[in-house]
Amino acid sequence: MEVIVAKTAGFCFGVKRAVDKVYEQVEKGTEPICTYGPIIHNEEVVKDLERKGVSVINSVSELKALKEGTVVIRSHGVAKEIYDIIESKGLHLVDATCPFVLKIHNIVKKESASGSEIIIIGNDQHPEVEGIKGWCSGPVTVIESAAEAENFVQESGKRLCIVSQTTFNYNKFNKLVEILSKKGYDIIVLNTICNATEERQTEARAIAKRVDGMIVIGGRHSSNTQKLFEICKNECENTYYIQTLVDLDVHSLPSMGCVGITAGASTPNNIIEEVQKNVRNEF
Ligand code: F3S
Repeated sequence: MEVIVAKTAGFCFGVKRAVDKVYEQVEKGTEPICTYGPIIHNEEVVKDLERKGVSVINSVSELKALKEGTVVIRSHGVAKEIYDIIESKGLHLVDATCPFVLKIHNIVKKESASGSEIIIIGNDQHPEVEGIKGWCSGPVTVIESAAEAENFVQESGKRLCIVSQTTFNYNKFNKLVEILSKKGYDIIVLNTICNATEERQTEARAIAKRVDGMIVIGGRHSSNTQKLFEICKNECENTYYIQTLVDLDVHSLPSMGCVGITAGASTPNNIIEEVQKNVRNEF
């Protein structure tokens, strides 16, 4: 039997890099180590790190209370204020901010400094957006919906610099930019969307089209995994949604010539490997 594992299955480049950096610190034995927010939305990984002595801090006050050790900044990035606190306290910084997010920090920092008003297309509650806001030195507005775009009134008289949260939907971004563009302001638009999610979906669709069975691995509540499942199910009737190997009854897989495997963004590689090995060994 042929088994095709999607190259884009599981962690995106930025999340993988961040998780690897924490394990590197563990190996170096640079205790105490903490991450500013959970390094990834995957309980297994966070618990494993906890067992290895890595704690999670969730607020500025917890950060200020630290006396020593290493602080890892996760892929979402943080506001400038957090770097300043880490530096002023003499803590060891490991910056795992995704380079695509760092690029946005640099854009808004530069544009704010040269007098532009910043518009971030994204979710105001999301930590990534929180972080981006924290690099703006002038006016900044977060817009997520068409209604917010319609209601936006520029008061500063400055040029508008529009950027996007990395995981924002591309079509929705274009729609919101179109609404803002009609207002006649001086606008520059920088599409800072990262296409990791879209690439994962495109590859999953292509594989599901050509296999007899498709396995999608990811958390039950992971919305990006649910979406992957839907996409694959549309192309391949024999699509299975599993969280780990335990959920997969390999014997129930009808004898298939070719099986595809993909996984959601927070599925660790070892789970993907384990499933892959078992499917290969069974047939
Ligand atoms: Fe991942 Fe970085 Fe894109 S964290 S989703 S590769 S912006």
